[in-house]
Amino acid sequence: MGSNSNHSPKSKTLTTNLYFCSLLLFTNLITLFLSSTYYSSTCTPNFTTTTTTAIEVDDGNLPLEFFASTAPQKLPLGFNRNFNSDTVNPPFGSACTLFPDDLRLFMSYDVNGSCPDDELLSQRLLLKGCEPLPRRRCRPAAPPNFPPPIPLPSSLWSTPSNSSVVWTAYTCKSYTCLINRSRTQKGFDDCKDCFELNGREKHRWTNPKSNGIDFSIDDVLKTRKPGSIRIGLDIGGGVATFAVRMRERNVTILTTSLNLNGPFNSFIASRGVMPLYMSISQRFPFFDNTLDIVHSMHVLSNWIPETLLHFLFFDIYRVLRPGGLFWLDHFFCVGDQLEMVYGPMIESVGFKKVKWVTGKKLDKGPQFQEMYLSALLEKPFKDSW
Ligand SMILES: *[C@@H]1O[C@H](CO)[C@@H](O)[C@H](O)[C@H]1NC(C)=O
Ligand SMILES: *[C@@H]1O[C@H](CO)[C@@H](O)[C@H](O)[C@H]1NC(C)=O
Ligand SMILES: *[C@@H]1O[C@H](CO)[C@@H](O)[C@H](O)[C@H]1NC(C)=O
Ligand SMILES: *[C@@H]1O[C@H](CO)[C@@H](O)[C@H](O)[C@H]1NC(C)=O
Repeated sequence: MGSNSNHSPKSKTLTTNLYFCSLLLFTNLITLFLSSTYYSSTCTPNFTTTTTTAIEVDDGNLPLEFFASTAPQKLPLGFNRNFNSDTVNPPFGSACTLFPDDLRLFMSYDVNGSCPDDELLSQRLLLKGCEPLPRRRCRPAAPPNFPPPIPLPSSLWSTPSNSSVVWTAYTCKSYTCLINRSRTQKGFDDCKDCFELNGREKHRWTNPKSNGIDFSIDDVLKTRKPGSIRIGLDIGGGVATFAVRMRERNVTILTTSLNLNGPFNSFIASRGVMPLYMSISQRFPFFDNTLDIVHSMHVLSNWIPETLLHFLFFDIYRVLRPGGLFWLDHFFCVGDQLEMVYGPMIESVGFKKVKWVTGKKLDKGPQFQEMYLSALLEKPFKDSW
């Protein structure tokens, strides 16, 4: 536990002891909350207690740095009317403490120093529901020779330099390997061929196939007055080619993406569009009635628990402005799930159907009875509340 290694045990002031005392108190509160066993220290102000003691009682439980990051903190200027409080409670995912082993690793580092190179661990923690992750006081792993960005607009369709990425967390250790992997590597990977910008990526949303479920960006934009779609979100947008194509049409799109066995966020940023590192579980960081368009391809599907999906659809409705569009692109499900579950679910939210096209998904074979739905849904202009 490097976070405490710099404290010399003998030189404690009263304030420091009170500080650790309150940290211990929070430790115990959380522990009670989890009803797991923990050293039951009573926080009687014992001013001879040293920091070393505090470390010792930590005893395999969560690092003090976790409590330093997340415990309630008094506002230095006292009561704040906007907060209606004199305290801030720094947020962290409610599920974080369900995974004490991962959380302990995540919050064990040298304060003011370098973080461990632990992307895989932190993403795993985030995906299990520790989202947002607690903040840390350390410098993240970074490439030793970070190159200057390729200037716009050529960055939009260029493969960035290998040295712009920390490769530790991924099977591939270079962009060449990522570009090759759909040909050279067996097994499934999320968005396996996405890094090859001259492959399938080049044609997405620009020349639709005749199957009806591939809408083109231009056809979608044509349903609105020119220029009235300006800002939006792409959920689970791979390498952000949707955002790039929209940018070419003067529309600003933020792309949520994780780094599932590939440096998706670094790649998106290198292209010169905005990555948002967040899962589908979290409330969107936008205010009500603000976005012109929300798009999502392949990601929103029957792998998502139904209740979560229902909340997610309502959150999309919330952030869209009246008249805003939700382009549900290649939603997939099986057999009668569309009529029985997802159709009624989407209708319950209150969207107006602009386009609604279903088709068979045949890549695994017809016996799986897989279906695609592509829909263009509008948040009603009037009485959307
Ligand atoms: C980290 O920096 C802060 C701010 O200067 C300082 O108060 C603290 O003692 C430092 N902690 C360690 C462990 O170096
Ligand atoms: C990236 O790394 C791969 C594998 O080491 C190498 O073949 C390729 O030339 C590198 N690309 C650039 C642009 O340096
Ligand atoms: C990528 O594929 C090319 C041609 O197939 C091959 O020459 C090269 O070694 C591969 N590079 C990597 C890093 O996999
Ligand atoms: C985007 O905006 C620029 C600058 O205002 C303009 O010149 C260009 O025609 C626009 N492009 C499209 C596709 O609307």
